[in-house]
Amino acid sequence: MAAVTDVQAPLGEALEPRLYLDPELIELEQERIFERTWQLIGHVSALPGPGSYTTGFAGSQPVLVLRDEANSLRAYRNVCRHRGSCLLSGSGQCKGAIRCRYHGWTYKFDGTLIGAPEALQFGKRLDKPALGLMPARVEELCGLIFVNLDPDAVPLAELVGDLPGRLARYRIGELEPFAPGGGTQPANWKVVAENYLEGYHIPIAHPGLMRMLDYKHYDTELHEHYAWIDAPLRDKPSSNRLERLYAQLVTPMPGLTEADRRTWHYVFIYPNTTIDLYPDQVNTWQMLPDGVGRTRDVFASYRSTHSGPRTRAVQWINQRVNTLVLDEDIDLVGNVQLGLRTRGYRCGPLSRRESAVAWFADRVRADLAEAL
Ligand code: FES
Ligand SMILES: [Fe+2]
Repeated sequence: MAAVTDVQAPLGEALEPRLYLDPELIELEQERIFERTWQLIGHVSALPGPGSYTTGFAGSQPVLVLRDEANSLRAYRNVCRHRGSCLLSGSGQCKGAIRCRYHGWTYKFDGTLIGAPEALQFGKRLDKPALGLMPARVEELCGLIFVNLDPDAVPLAELVGDLPGRLARYRIGELEPFAPGGGTQPANWKVVAENYLEGYHIPIAHPGLMRMLDYKHYDTELHEHYAWIDAPLRDKPSSNRLERLYAQLVTPMPGLTEADRRTWHYVFIYPNTTIDLYPDQVNTWQMLPDGVGRTRDVFASYRSTHSGPRTRAVQWINQRVNTLVLDEDIDLVGNVQLGLRTRGYRCGPLSRRESAVAWFADRVRADLAEAL
């Protein structure tokens, strides 16, 4: 698909309410969406050299990523082949091999099982070549690490086309993480994703954003596998002191343009990753289903290692403003999740302002098609 802006996009259809409510869909989405798409696991700063590792989830599935002796990235299911213990947690450094903390089975960085304590006690049943770690695909995209559990998946770089070029000037790989966060939202992950994908609710539900952003020029651009939203900052100073201060003090990170100083960009990579590009920092967010009516959020923020006191103040304001927006959104999505239960309800029309909601719905429908 060639990129289209929201004014050109055909008016599409929202998903039917059942798709946000049916507990049976959780397993189906896990298989058809989360185990076939690229899932954000972390940032290259967690993987500085051989033996460094980080962990995360592809939907419900635990995954680990590490650097082998040659400094190449490798990803595996984060499970020990003995009795199923998760092998690693958080991020850190393995000393020469991966050792399970339960009974001490040990794996090389290439996934081969090399040893088990008291190996003779297994008789002839410790078939080491058959008991290696279960591999997954891994790719780095502009400093962000993604995994895919589908061995036949199209490479992420191919799916997102020109996106790396557009992200390049933010130099995400060189930024340092700060203020990681997480939480839950009382709504299906698709309600949460769709709420991110449209700005139609901003004038009603986000007074702070409305003061800061030039809503008229809030534009969405749809690509085959990602959506790109431009949210320019208003020229008119906000009536709120902190918001005004943000606009006054913000200086773009090295490499950014004057236009970037004046614009927030929101990027959504299908199905559940967002990258928020601010002049002062970059935020990522992975939305994970946690049952049919709950979403687990994994947030991370990145900033230049040269952020001085002024920029730190700006980043503090940014976090404050956007935490408030998140609280407002959590309230909105919870309310949608409740209303969707209404028997006999069918979704109304989508506006051009919601072109990305239709775009997202088309992709979900296509992924679940055979099964629905
Ligand atoms: S579960 Fe890993 S060694 Fe037993
Ligand atoms: Fe919102």
